[in-house]
Amino acid sequence: MSPRRLNRVTGLASWFAISIGAAGIATFAPLAHSQPGADGAGVYAASCVACHQPTGAGVPGAFPPLVKHVSALLGQPTGREYLIKAVLFGLEGKVRIEGVDYQNVMPPWNALSDGDLAAVLNHVSGSWGNQSMVPADFKPFVPGEVKAGRLPPLTATAVLASRPGGLSAGPVLAATGASQKVSFTAEQVVRGKAIYTRRCVDCHGSTLDNGEFGGAPLNGAYFKGHWGAGPVAGLIAYTKAKMPPDGPGSLSDQSYVDVVSYLLDANGYPRGDKELPADAETQQAMSLQFQP
Ligand code: HEC
Ligand code: HEC
Repeated sequence: MSPRRLNRVTGLASWFAISIGAAGIATFAPLAHSQPGADGAGVYAASCVACHQPTGAGVPGAFPPLVKHVSALLGQPTGREYLIKAVLFGLEGKVRIEGVDYQNVMPPWNALSDGDLAAVLNHVSGSWGNQSMVPADFKPFVPGEVKAGRLPPLTATAVLASRPGGLSAGPVLAATGASQKVSFTAEQVVRGKAIYTRRCVDCHGSTLDNGEFGGAPLNGAYFKGHWGAGPVAGLIAYTKAKMPPDGPGSLSDQSYVDVVSYLLDANGYPRGDKELPADAETQQAMSLQFQP
């Protein structure tokens, strides 16, 4: 083994041991994230796992895999900078990832600290086999480069436009998209409205687009443009991962699907006799494409 290769292997091994050690004491409290000594596994568990899954395998058609894919991104000439931007500013629009098409929304994470973001980037680069496929000269992410990546601020659509071109090559796999209509019941809408009134109305408003504290519109062309092409799982996972902003994930799974039922009702999707389910697998099969 060449000295350079050996160096890389031992360097990664000790770095990886640190991240495993940290995982053992992973803390899931959101407040812990702003503290120094950031723990990438803990940040991943709090902010990424709902969509990209504990195994990093994602959900085909809804959330892309990070397994083998983060290493592929790092192998692209501008891949490292792109990864930083994607995690800081999110990603939105139609994109082909590992042969599967996605048209969904990845939220921005620029509210997390530079240290937390460097740590989570190291976690995803060093997990699920990515560590053996990253380029030979890969060095762990450091907070300073995340800080530098914050300027200029980008929209999630602009991040997509900066995506390295070499990633679209390769075969297109069979479509795995959602094929059923979304369903929810009138009772869920009633329960969801009560939750909305308690936890969401201040920012998003009584008509979903007249909030006082800067909440995005939750109806009309804006809603349709973000969510109308994907599985309902995307909207639910986003809401769980980001809302309400002072306590993401603080509602029960049932409450999240109930409040989303209320949003769907307000956007004209028809009520039915089957509840919007709390289990992610069924949510992934349900598409929002069948417009009201
Ligand atoms: C609410 C669901 C959701 C959460 C939470 C989420 N992601 Fe994503 N992620 C997505 C989606 C969806 C895409 C693809 C976006 C598209 O369809 O345009 C994506 C794309 C990505 C990509 C880019 C892949 C590429 O090839 O361009 C990376 C890297 C990534 N996510 C990492 C992360 C990390 C790290 C976290 C946690 C800090 C995270 N994601 C949290 C849904 C999510
Ligand atoms: C403190 C204000 C605040 C509260 C409370 C709040 N939100 Fe939000 N919400 C926002 C802001 C601001 C955005 C824009 C995205 C961002 O900045 O992260 C947003 C975005 C969203 C989006 C994505 C809109 C889009 O298409 O981009 C959904 C869905 C959403 N909120 C649902 C909810 C639900 C459901 C609740 C109640 C459980 C809630 N929000 C509570 C401020 C709030």
